[in-house]
Amino acid sequence: MRYIGLMSGTSLDGVDGVLIDIDDGGALKLRGHRHEAFVASLRDELLALNSPGGDELHRAAVAAQGVAHAYASVVNALLFDSGTVARDVRATGAHGQTVRHRPDAGYSAQLLDGALLAELTGIDVVCDLRSRDVAAGGQGAPLAPGFHAAVFGHAEDTRAVLNLGGISNLTLLAPGRAVTGFDCGPANALLDGWCQRHLRQPFDDDGRWAASGQVHAPLLAALLAEPYFDLPPPKSTGRDLFNMSWLDARVAGVAAVDVQATLAALTVESVARDLERHAPQTAALFVCGGGARNAHLMRGFAQRLPRMRIGTTDELGVPVDQVEGAAFAWLAHRFIQRLPGNLAEATGARGPRLLGALYPGQ
Ligand SMILES: Nc1ncnc2c1ncn2[C@@H]1O[C@H](COP(=O)(O)OP(=O)(O)OP(=O)(O)O)[C@@H](O)[C@H]1O
Ligand SMILES: [Mg+2]
Repeated sequence: MRYIGLMSGTSLDGVDGVLIDIDDGGALKLRGHRHEAFVASLRDELLALNSPGGDELHRAAVAAQGVAHAYASVVNALLFDSGTVARDVRATGAHGQTVRHRPDAGYSAQLLDGALLAELTGIDVVCDLRSRDVAAGGQGAPLAPGFHAAVFGHAEDTRAVLNLGGISNLTLLAPGRAVTGFDCGPANALLDGWCQRHLRQPFDDDGRWAASGQVHAPLLAALLAEPYFDLPPPKSTGRDLFNMSWLDARVAGVAAVDVQATLAALTVESVARDLERHAPQTAALFVCGGGARNAHLMRGFAQRLPRMRIGTTDELGVPVDQVEGAAFAWLAHRFIQRLPGNLAEATGARGPRLLGALYPGQ
């Protein structure tokens, strides 16, 4: 069966769409990938909606339509490029744009007008994938570990999968043990934000700007003093905590380039500490997400974790920018099969749950 997965993460860079085939045995074949950036006005509004502001109900409803249009554009491109017609796609798994992640308050809010996406594409839309896990007492995140286990798990090797999106998250795959995963801390959300402010570029290409600065040890220590880093899993986070105001409250007196170097070091150090604490036996770390394209970060992991083999998911057959999209296609498949999508060990939910809500395409 053919599925589409659509992800737009906390980096707010745009939408990654993946077309995959899943056979009866659960084996996956990647059939297409498309990335489209958000238009600047939608991106700015989605970023603004991450913080409290006026007229939120109306603005959120309009932005949710904007997300549906952006998603539909990716779906139509995937169909066109692969010569697929809508009726041949069983369902689209669509994440939506997180604007508040508050499992502590009983919700995680993703903006997406699922009815409009179904109307625009004629394909069943499975969305709102986090709420049921939160309703069952979970964090609603991370949801990728089940997919990571299905495609990256190994019978003998202890592996970890590290997604470097706006936030970093780890999945721990140890043979014979329950699969777990959690958010480590900030990654591209702050690296991009600082770079946009000081270089007027969307991101620090290859981490070159960060590489040209010096890590500011007192700042790194101050950032690492954030209590989130020491919370035991299950745990998840987002722009609710790790945003530019969080950074601004701590950077006084440090040169901009050194802040960028320190943010890169923070990304590496927070993940490395989590691996040492929770999975010291890990033999290989496979990185995915846009941060895997940041050579400075990848060098940082290799230096900080010399005994670990550091690679990317490209080596395991799933290109780094397709993993999260494919995970949401897989989650749509789980929903259609009426199988649970969450791993209670990772999210902290009371048990496995069927994730998602359906907007029929026809
Ligand atoms: N060549 C590159 N050099 C440095 N950073 C890069 C490069 N290419 C991509 N990136 C980073 O990757 C980010 C996009 O990554 P990605 O799409 O995985 O994040 P995301 O949308 O937040 O996803 P998610 O929340 O699902 O993990 C960009 O914003 C940028 O920071
Ligand atoms: Mg992205």
